[in-house]
Amino acid sequence: MNHPWHPLTRREGTRRRVLAVVGVLCLATAAATASVATASSHLTSSQAGIQAADDSAPVKTSKRLIEQGRQTFRFDTFGDEDFWGGTLQLDRAIAGAANGGVGPGVSPKTALAVGLKVDSDALPLAVRTAIKAGQVNLDDPAVTLQLLKLNSVVGVKGFFDSAGKLRTVGIECALCHSTVDDSFAPGIGRRLDGWANRDLNVGAIVSLAPNLQPVASLLHTDVATVKTVLGSWGPGKFDAELFLDGKAFQPDGRSAATLLPPAFGLQGVNQHTWTGWGSVTYWNAFVANLEMHGKGTFFDTRLDNAEQFPIAAENRFGHTKAPVDRITPKLAGLQAYQLALAAPRPPKGSFDAAAAARGKKLFNSTAQCSTCHVPPLFTEPGFNMHPGKDVGIDNFEADRSPTHMYRTSPLAGLWTHQKGGFYHDGRFADLLQVVKHYDQTFGLHLTAAQERDLVEYLKSL
Ligand code: HEC
Ligand code: HEC
Repeated sequence: MNHPWHPLTRREGTRRRVLAVVGVLCLATAAATASVATASSHLTSSQAGIQAADDSAPVKTSKRLIEQGRQTFRFDTFGDEDFWGGTLQLDRAIAGAANGGVGPGVSPKTALAVGLKVDSDALPLAVRTAIKAGQVNLDDPAVTLQLLKLNSVVGVKGFFDSAGKLRTVGIECALCHSTVDDSFAPGIGRRLDGWANRDLNVGAIVSLAPNLQPVASLLHTDVATVKTVLGSWGPGKFDAELFLDGKAFQPDGRSAATLLPPAFGLQGVNQHTWTGWGSVTYWNAFVANLEMHGKGTFFDTRLDNAEQFPIAAENRFGHTKAPVDRITPKLAGLQAYQLALAAPRPPKGSFDAAAAARGKKLFNSTAQCSTCHVPPLFTEPGFNMHPGKDVGIDNFEADRSPTHMYRTSPLAGLWTHQKGGFYHDGRFADLLQVVKHYDQTFGLHLTAAQERDLVEYLKSL
């Protein structure tokens, strides 16, 4: 359930802003119409056409889809609580023995420590005041249950019975692809939809589940090994291919998990995910069915390749069909919403503007970056995929995808996900390491000052 006043306050705010914008637009249009009217009556009528177009069917459709999509992205579990709660019994670990579950339970402090975020807009004033006054025991799992009841834990939904006991728990897209602005306290603030949550330790959270045997059975291993693998991921990472190919480690022993990417700034981009599995809507269907374990339909015969995807082929993941499909009807809205999320602009003062201007010139000339990262998409219009050797890296992760390639990352909003490193597995700790890698791979002979300028430009995108 939504907290009743949460969307209301949001919508109120939006409506006020919309009214203000409409006011300004009316003035501007009136002025334009007046001057144009004297110049040409033809232009006046086309202006009228533009105004009418605002209420046209396509505009209405996309507005409706975007609103549906936001609701789905933030609050829909697609019925996956039958897996996270029902099968893995994560709800029992969250509640703890004192609240009818098992073990010590998950206190708000623990929840925040594993990177879960709290939406301050979903907290009633009384709760916010009590937290500020230090009157809320952040060491008490019962408080976590209250936060879940308020639907304030980003990406996690608790389902309660009539007696108020946590019955089961599900996850939402926002878990991995949203964070908060910390405006209330660290980990507590307003939602930032589409931002990669690089604090989130998915492995540690899943590891809490009292019943990991189904995961172990799926992977033909034991629970201890599953826990070792989950523990190897670390914050900001997840391995979406583990449940297809059973590969947990790279040949050099590092975890095979990839970074959580942002779900914004994807407009105009052809292939999605680090290894270009498909479009936004392809991947949304994939993730909702196969990773979140929602109830839906998913089709991909590429997963029947038993050599590349032994686990997926054995379990016929490419032919998934639930009796009631709760995912497919949501895909259009979800796609529209993600495409409506623009990459956020970097805050003023977060980069050196003069250096960034010099870096931009390099990016588009001698450093050769724009041959692949074509502005303003910062990926190739057309087929935006490369074998590892094109960018001087191994093909391990690429070979876990049907494409056997890496997708040229769109770069806008890079500043929001500097934690955890860069490239699919975070192998480069910071942007300077990325630039140095290109310098070496392409023999660019950049000076230290030029490298710095390129970094400042990347921070400005
Ligand atoms: C458990 C964490 C997790 C959840 C939950 C999750 N994702 Fe993701 N998402 C990832 C990871 C990791 C990748 C990268 C996968 C890869 O490349 O192998 C990804 C990739 C993506 C991409 C591709 C982004 C790009 O740069 O092209 C989109 C879009 C996306 N997810 C949307 C969603 C939507 C919509 C949902 C809900 C239906 C969702 N995700 C749920 C972790 C998650
Ligand atoms: C041959 C095409 C190509 C060229 C040229 C290229 N890139 Fe890339 N870039 C890629 C690909 C492919 C990836 C994704 C690698 C991965 O995920 O492992 C990438 C990833 C990146 C990333 C990491 C993005 C993230 O989210 O982690 C940055 C930053 C970047 N490139 C900057 C640059 C800069 C700066 C230059 C010029 C010096 C450049 N690239 C030149 C193809 C290219």
